[in-house]
Amino acid sequence: MQTNDTPKRASWSGQLSFILAAAASAIGLGNLWRFPYLAAQYGGGTFILVYLVLVVTLGFTLMVTEIAIGRRTRQSQMTAYGKLHSGFGILGFLSTLIPFVIVPYYCVIGGWVLKYFWTYLRIVSGDVSSVAALEEPGAFFGGFVSAPFAPFGYGMLFILACALVIVLGVKGGIERSNKVMMPLLLAMAVGISAFVCCQPDAAEGLKYYLVPNMDSLRAAGADGVARFSVAQLGKTVLGAMGQMFYSLSLAMGIMITYGSYMREGDSIEKSVRRIEIFDTLVAVLAGLMIIPVVYMYAVKTGTPVKEAMNAGPGLMFVTLPRVFAEFGGVGPWVGLAFFLLVVFAALTSAISLYEACVAAVCDLLKMERRPATFFTFFLISFLAVFSALGYGAWGDVTLGAGLRNMGIAGDWTRGGLMGMQFLDFFDFVTNSFLMPIVAAVTCVFVGWVVGTKAIEDEVARGQDGGFAGAGFYRAMVRYIAPTLITAILVSEVCRAFGIGGWKI
Ligand code: PHE
Repeated sequence: MQTNDTPKRASWSGQLSFILAAAASAIGLGNLWRFPYLAAQYGGGTFILVYLVLVVTLGFTLMVTEIAIGRRTRQSQMTAYGKLHSGFGILGFLSTLIPFVIVPYYCVIGGWVLKYFWTYLRIVSGDVSSVAALEEPGAFFGGFVSAPFAPFGYGMLFILACALVIVLGVKGGIERSNKVMMPLLLAMAVGISAFVCCQPDAAEGLKYYLVPNMDSLRAAGADGVARFSVAQLGKTVLGAMGQMFYSLSLAMGIMITYGSYMREGDSIEKSVRRIEIFDTLVAVLAGLMIIPVVYMYAVKTGTPVKEAMNAGPGLMFVTLPRVFAEFGGVGPWVGLAFFLLVVFAALTSAISLYEACVAAVCDLLKMERRPATFFTFFLISFLAVFSALGYGAWGDVTLGAGLRNMGIAGDWTRGGLMGMQFLDFFDFVTNSFLMPIVAAVTCVFVGWVVGTKAIEDEVARGQDGGFAGAGFYRAMVRYIAPTLITAILVSEVCRAFGIGGWKI
């Protein structure tokens, strides 16, 4: 039985295990799918540069804060805030809500990836019907996500795999599975990107991805002449900032929970630097895997490049299979390796989300890990039904329709925000609202309520020579971070309600 005061909390076996676990959480669909298309959309190297600056400043600040809160309180996010200051328990509840909302839809997307991996596996083992099915990837994807049962079935398989790892514990489950999946993931990422970069026409696409394109920071004025635009720069910074939060698994309590398993003597500062390097490396590699080939494909088929790099699921589930088909005999093998890589990345991230939920249930209800895992399993599976069926059997059920049917809302809910499918809606609410709110309030909480000293002492405790970046950290957490995060929130509100033409 775990109680608030029990010192016998699970722990990682060492600093490396912690770094690997946090990196495993960070490296996920965000790196492999979202980073490349955002980079393509926002001027390649320009976006990468902005992103790097944000990671080492804002990302560093928030990750240090969360890990230190976890290690200091030895609690999951659910109860950690309340332990530091009794008036802030609600923040714990809010940040726990986020993984509970994300994990079901993340697992549904994990199920889509599993389906593709399975299909490529059948193709390489000579199954002709799978070859034929994937010849038209658009119809294949549409048919799959709108099927009455399959998306839920694959999603459940994915949730089950996570539950199996979680029930085995921090060392026996999470640590062990990361030690297998993460090195393989990195090896495949290096291998596929090397293969792509060696393709004869890769140079143009590489240039498009890596060379800063200042045009993305210009906008046409009233006279039609394109000039540097502060609004364009602002959009790039906000886009990069949102991506950074998501990619580093910040503002959803995971790093607090993982920090609560960290050993006293390990360095938080060094660990954070390494996690950031690892996460950014895989994001950049993902761009190397995807952008040059999609660029070549766009040029070949006469599709506008920006359109080919479309933001939606189409990029991974429709465009990439088409691109792989262009490789001839090796194509299915590249597809197989690519989707296995994505399965690993999604699985390790989903495990961390699931663990944040389980740890919260353990700490709040004083439950053991095993019953907490089962309890969470049923809850997640139930919520996954909505995301899994949202594109098919329940395709017509949107939040707006639901509210209209209940007579709560009028016709204004048609289309737009309220017209979203469940999966998109969950994604939207967490990324655009809940996460920035939790992040901003956490900064104010640490900077102005509890005081930065608590965090600084915690960071200094594990390392020789104290907290080297303490002065910088203080300025960031008190002033700069809350301002920047509030800017995300405002821009998201403007975007959601169509104020001022914002579009990110
Ligand atoms: N960081 C993960 C990624 O890049 C996403 C994630 C989100 C993981 C939420 C855990 C929690 O895909």
